[in-house]
Amino acid sequence: MEIATHSKLTAQHIEAFKKIAGDTYVVIDEESLKHYSHDETETLNFLPEVVIRPRTASEISSILRICNRDRIPVTPRGGGTGLSGGALPHLGGVLLSLERMNSILEIDERNMQVTTEPGVITEILQDAVKGKGLFYPPDPSSRGSCFIGGNIAANAGGPKAVKYGVVKDYVLNLEVVLPTGEIIWTGANVLKNSTGYNLTQLIVGSEGTLGIVTRIVLRLIPLPKYDLLMLVPFASLEKASEAVSAIFRAGFTPSCLELVEIDALKITSKMVGSSVIPINDDIEAHLLIEVDGNNMDVLMNEMEQIAALMSKYEGGEISFADDAQQKAELWKLRRRTAEAVKLAGYTIEEDVVVPRAELPALIRGVKELGRQHDFHAVCYGHAGDGNLHIRIKKDGTANSLGDPAMTKNLRSLFELVKNLGGTISGEHGIGLVQKGYMDIVFSKTQLQLMRDIKRIFDPNNVLNAGKIFDI
Ligand code: LAC
Ligand code: ZN
Repeated sequence: MEIATHSKLTAQHIEAFKKIAGDTYVVIDEESLKHYSHDETETLNFLPEVVIRPRTASEISSILRICNRDRIPVTPRGGGTGLSGGALPHLGGVLLSLERMNSILEIDERNMQVTTEPGVITEILQDAVKGKGLFYPPDPSSRGSCFIGGNIAANAGGPKAVKYGVVKDYVLNLEVVLPTGEIIWTGANVLKNSTGYNLTQLIVGSEGTLGIVTRIVLRLIPLPKYDLLMLVPFASLEKASEAVSAIFRAGFTPSCLELVEIDALKITSKMVGSSVIPINDDIEAHLLIEVDGNNMDVLMNEMEQIAALMSKYEGGEISFADDAQQKAELWKLRRRTAEAVKLAGYTIEEDVVVPRAELPALIRGVKELGRQHDFHAVCYGHAGDGNLHIRIKKDGTANSLGDPAMTKNLRSLFELVKNLGGTISGEHGIGLVQKGYMDIVFSKTQLQLMRDIKRIFDPNNVLNAGKIFDI
């Protein structure tokens, strides 16, 4: 549908882009195009016609003016770590990589804020503010390679979200280049703001469909002094998932509460060559539980109480990480799970989220669907948020996109999630591969409102067209 309204790129366009961004930063050779033809989504590849790597908002504005005038599709891209196909150039056209806009512009210690460009790697930003005793909590598993701009596009989360919230909770103000080329700021660098519609939060999570974020102002918080980490094995996956909501009901808010099913752990341990967690046939899942704060005695006490609670849910012998190295080893296993299971053939990753206490029902439902539809699913993720990653393996099916049987399976999964009061994506976004299921969780009226917003920002449908929904 989009293709019909878009135009082909010409040699004149390439010349015009070179004048704007410089010859070196406009590439059309096949090797370069291939690098930008995929992200981490399934095994999908779409070649762009040209890759542009601009350095400034003003360059982006000039590029977008041309593309808007001539209806050339533009796909913005951050670190290429996305899992819903948001950065896939499925319509060809221009791939706009933000990788050269990678400066942290100012760390304002007085106001506890940071202003950054979008191409900064999330972990580099976190380390830079940590150096000043400040904390930017959102920490997607890919934080070592994803970009802060991509995190904003997806409203990313990560393990710390359970205590500290997701990206949206830290974004104060954004500079955005609109598809028509105008450059705006969305808000103000303030902690409270009831001044008109919240354009900042409209851009957060809009997956590059409304504008290109070129500057970002984030609020920061004081860095907690200590954290403690423990690993709890469970003979039953369901019992592990029941224990999750009990922790909060007992009055605790861990700084991370992750679940990893045993098959995922086996695969990841093998890939990273780690034997730090003994693999035991009696175990179905582990909970990784972290608490943090400034008073070690309080934290020790919390850990002891959580540990006692876990035994009521048939938790097994708990391991406490003794030092930074052991913590890093456990986190490495959790953070590299998605990559490991993908390599092992679990190519399709879902990111569903349900109210926390519905997690056991979700897990039971997923396993039942797997039996009915003959696929194997492993579960891991942010159990404390009710946000479960479900990686699916089915012989002969690498991608859900365009596969009728897998589409049917995913519809059943999302209907289950909807019936449990949940929704399709907690932190990865809808992108390309999940847009076909939006009707499960939104009415026609809701979807029309979203389309109308898209039309106001992008009347010619050039910016990341065909992502989230079709126009
Ligand atoms: C994770 C990513 C895939 O939690 O969201 O590992
Ligand atoms: Zn995740």
